[in-house]
Amino acid sequence: MKTEQILITDLAQQDEDIARAAARIRAGELVVFPTETVYGLGADATNEAAVRSIYVAKGRPSDNPLIIHIATPEDAERYALTNKTYYKLAEKFMPGPLTVILPKRASVCATVTGGLDTVAVRCPSHPVARALIEKAGVGIAAPSANLSGRPSPTTAAHAKKDLNGRVSMILDGGEAEVGLESTIVALDGEVGTLLRPGAITYDALCCVCREVKVAPAVVERLAENERPLSPGMKYRHYAPRAPLTLLEGEENAVLAYLKSLCTDKSIGILCYDEEIPHLQGGARLFAIGSAHDLQTQAHRLFAVLREVDDHPEITAVYAHLPPREGLGLALYNRSIRAAAHTVKKI
Ligand code: TXA
Ligand code: MG
Repeated sequence: MKTEQILITDLAQQDEDIARAAARIRAGELVVFPTETVYGLGADATNEAAVRSIYVAKGRPSDNPLIIHIATPEDAERYALTNKTYYKLAEKFMPGPLTVILPKRASVCATVTGGLDTVAVRCPSHPVARALIEKAGVGIAAPSANLSGRPSPTTAAHAKKDLNGRVSMILDGGEAEVGLESTIVALDGEVGTLLRPGAITYDALCCVCREVKVAPAVVERLAENERPLSPGMKYRHYAPRAPLTLLEGEENAVLAYLKSLCTDKSIGILCYDEEIPHLQGGARLFAIGSAHDLQTQAHRLFAVLREVDDHPEITAVYAHLPPREGLGLALYNRSIRAAAHTVKKI
């Protein structure tokens, strides 16, 4: 399949491009589109054959369900049984980087939900995503637009690298702002369970829900054969080719340890910007942002993990263990997965 790529620089002037992409969605084809979190690989959520082709294009296990992207919070009614807490969350955080899991309507096909009786809905804020969903007139089922197991794409180039020839169209809307996938919360009445941390933080959810639990898989390794609340949690994810070790300890002690590694050319280090002058010696450095600038670190993490794989000489990778507070929890969650839970205490 030939993949057409369209750059969207001025949405107001590019109605026709969006209309063409929306027509492809309605024709059952796959369209990659930007969101504020990461790029999505979209298909008409009401077309079972189209949804099935998402799993094929990504090489994704069929029991790992998809998120339905909607144009307005009210559109959730078409696919899910909503409640008051959903609308309170919507009022505060939608459109935006939040996915809510609710009981599904009978009409939603099992291919979207991986056979579960719940469905994930999300109303993204990216103007291109919103325009596409609105124009398509249907919910768009979309996982992140990467091959299964790879870091989620934060640019159209990342998505193209993974999916060129496997999708009908790629809409290039520039770099994704957040850089990590949406926060996922499952609702049971007024009680939420955080399944995947993201830019909408645990504390932010607590301002709306009566209680917010945290699914164990967010911070811990699942036991062999344990069934996670969110199927995606059990799969190997984001890992670079060379094994990643996370370093836990006081900042200066970790820097001293990194210094001891930095003469080795076969080592990659994901370091803070301010550490660069101290780590000159031969190791390949990947700056992830300033030490306390978690937003920049979130924005850069997946791109950096992809960059590491472009260096065949690297045989081991080291990075800081992120803090678990605020946006740090999302960085922590993605980092421990990329490191297969390998943490070294310094
Ligand atoms: O930011 C995002 O959420 C991006 C953009 C494209 O919107 N999408 C994304 O989709 O990250 P994906 O498929 O890569 O991750 C969706 C996660 C998976 O871990 C899946 O298991 C979980 O959501 N999920 C989907 N439906 C679920 C359900 N009914 N119950 C529990 N978990 C569910
Ligand atoms: Mg994904």
